[in-house]
Amino acid sequence: MITNTELENKGDQYPSRIISFEQDVDSIFFYTENNIILKITILRDSLIRFRYTTKGYFSKDFSYAIDKTQSHGYNQLDVIEESTFYMIKTSKVFCKINKKDAKVGIFDIDGSAILEDENGFHWEECYEHGGNIVKMSKHSKDGESFYGLGDKASHLNLKGKRVENWAMDQYAFHKDQEPLYKVVPFYIGLHHNKSYGIFFDNTFKTFFDFCHERRNVTSFWAEGGEMNYYFFYGPKMSDVVTTYTHLTGKPELPPMWTLGYHQCKWSYYPESKVKEITSKFRELKIPCDGIYLDIDYMDGFRCFTWNKEYFPDPKRMVAELAKDGFKTVVIIDPGIKIDKDYWVYKEALENDYFCKRADGPYMKGKVWPGECNFPDYTNPAVREWWAGLFKELISEIGVKGVWNDMNEPAVMEVPGKTFPPDVRHDYDGNPCSHRKAHNIYGTQMARATYEGVKRFAYPKRPFIITRSAYSGAQRYTSSWTGDNVASWEHLWIANIQMQRMSMSGMGFTGSDIGGFAEQPSGELYARWIQLGVFHPFCRTHSSGDHGEQEPWSFGTEVIDITRKFVELRYQLLPYLYTMFWNYVNDGTPMLKPLVYFDQEDMHTHYRTDEFIFGNQILVCPILEPNAQGRRMYLPKGNWYNYWTNELVEGKRELWVSTKFDEIPVFVKEGSIIPKYPVQQYVGEMQFDELTLDVYYKLGKEKSTVYEDAQDGYDYNKGRFSLRTFSFNGKDKEIIIQQHKEGTFETTYSKFKINLKGLPFKVKKIEIDNEKVTLEKVQLNGDNFLIIDKDFSELHIIGI
Ligand code: GLC
Repeated sequence: MITNTELENKGDQYPSRIISFEQDVDSIFFYTENNIILKITILRDSLIRFRYTTKGYFSKDFSYAIDKTQSHGYNQLDVIEESTFYMIKTSKVFCKINKKDAKVGIFDIDGSAILEDENGFHWEECYEHGGNIVKMSKHSKDGESFYGLGDKASHLNLKGKRVENWAMDQYAFHKDQEPLYKVVPFYIGLHHNKSYGIFFDNTFKTFFDFCHERRNVTSFWAEGGEMNYYFFYGPKMSDVVTTYTHLTGKPELPPMWTLGYHQCKWSYYPESKVKEITSKFRELKIPCDGIYLDIDYMDGFRCFTWNKEYFPDPKRMVAELAKDGFKTVVIIDPGIKIDKDYWVYKEALENDYFCKRADGPYMKGKVWPGECNFPDYTNPAVREWWAGLFKELISEIGVKGVWNDMNEPAVMEVPGKTFPPDVRHDYDGNPCSHRKAHNIYGTQMARATYEGVKRFAYPKRPFIITRSAYSGAQRYTSSWTGDNVASWEHLWIANIQMQRMSMSGMGFTGSDIGGFAEQPSGELYARWIQLGVFHPFCRTHSSGDHGEQEPWSFGTEVIDITRKFVELRYQLLPYLYTMFWNYVNDGTPMLKPLVYFDQEDMHTHYRTDEFIFGNQILVCPILEPNAQGRRMYLPKGNWYNYWTNELVEGKRELWVSTKFDEIPVFVKEGSIIPKYPVQQYVGEMQFDELTLDVYYKLGKEKSTVYEDAQDGYDYNKGRFSLRTFSFNGKDKEIIIQQHKEGTFETTYSKFKINLKGLPFKVKKIEIDNEKVTLEKVQLNGDNFLIIDKDFSELHIIGI
């Protein structure tokens, strides 16, 4: 029986009275009269895991999502027994467990309730499949807001919504469509300026209801498996998100070129067409790093083969493209064509690597190549074999990235568009049906691909992109949001999806710029590019069954706008790379919704359009045709309009006028924004200066610039350069201090410092306490100066 409601059911059962408890180091077990065990594990003072079993014992603990390399530890753990309840205390929260019914309440140390069970844990036995439908309901507070959950195409604040988590091929999905391609059962709650999070680590189909069914109740449930969730306490949202990201893992730094612009279409072929496209980029001087080959490069859609008519010599082509700065990325799908003469099929068959139906036959389904079998990526031996298949593509042909698609897994012409529930999976030695493995199938495919590409790309870094993903997939892969549509509504959706993914630990994501299905107008394409350059992954892609969708398909005005914005992205590469480094190190989301930026300000709780790109740049896309500007909300602080350098006060709504070749972009005062010169591709130029745009502020602000070799792993051995700039602005004075870490020597030797918004005329400049003549620092009327990159203190004094 499939449940799509949490509403009380006749068959629901509840824990009864707690009769005993015991503590084993960081875990406390509570036993009820009706044989329920609640296990509470303290991972950090503000990170607590709750597991329930109705069997009287726990099954083996196994999760694909949790990063096993993470470390834990807490400062305080006390367990106190009172007459009607137990109390677990850490230095951040109190957790109260009622003796009567095992209901849980979590409070902060001031005693304010953060999250309390309503019905709490309950379950319904599932006769058809065995096990339980496991359910949880919590009281929701007045004014509570909800965020997170990955790729949901709904309002950023999920209050009032019900969502379903079941990875699904959703061609041309629409607003509020459920379910979508990715499964991130993690949400963030916010009330009374306190933020917490829940990660329900259960790979079965799950549902979350945010006051949709009942006004003041939040619930979540799964069609099988365990009630197993992690609670994170903030109170700052940033702590919730970074702790979640820490728990499910962070990616490695990607090669810098992957942060450039990518061009894709279904499909560019033959070779002459690919070259025509890449040459056009260089001719029009629109920077581009990635060129994609969709399924038609293969021989009859057989993975790891080439159509030799279209691509007679892939190695030569890939090398020629590389010479021109293009990195070739190819698609690889999970469906392996049933063809007794096809080596990949034969190897998998000989080794018994395909998924099987319950009674033994291989899972068979139609995808692009026709009837296919599907590797069971949940089997480590299969992943190892799959990784090995990339040898030729990567080490010999020189492909630089792999794009995994259709890995929900998608099956054509069948109800449910995927495997039937009886399909068997190894699940890393925990055999199960597709009901349990479905949601992580795509992640395990991307993981196996990542392992292969990494092995053969070494000492360079791998690049993987996936369509389906479960929590934790960010450790292996980037992603895109699947088959969207060329519509204004989808531009709105793309903006929200990328912010939501960022808050859900999966920051390296982008949308198909311009829309996958249907044809965008030039205006829509331009508006999409203007937003897309501020998304961590920036790629134009289209289905190719309508008109052209290259930057030059819409006339000169759109070409110029595309060039202007892609150039801006390339200038901001050091800034973008630094924000990626922050994500890798601290789990900080690269895009920050306004509510994340200032949760205290209630106005931010329902904002969707504006977001912070990195830490210091505020972006607000234009989401309507014929706009001369737009109303928007500026959060706290003072902000410089990027285009006019006008300083604007925040924490208010305002109208911002823009031309067609602009969208509202603001820079936080006090910021020091690093910029590279425009390059046609990453690494095209060796340059002698790093530009630093310094935005004057009366007060202090910190900025950082992380750099390294832009690829490879030497940064792990200290070969990086991390510059921290402390800006201190006074009435007639600026002091900028630089602190440097790491042993990497950047090729440039100077900074070109642009002083923006300076309220005084420069009288005197001192570098490291030595007065320098203005000629020497080359100060001119535009207020820029060129100085040695190794300064410690720059002191600008005005009149
Ligand atoms: C799927 C993908 C799309 C790709 C197409 C052909 O629809 O989502 O990006 O172009 O398959 O491979």
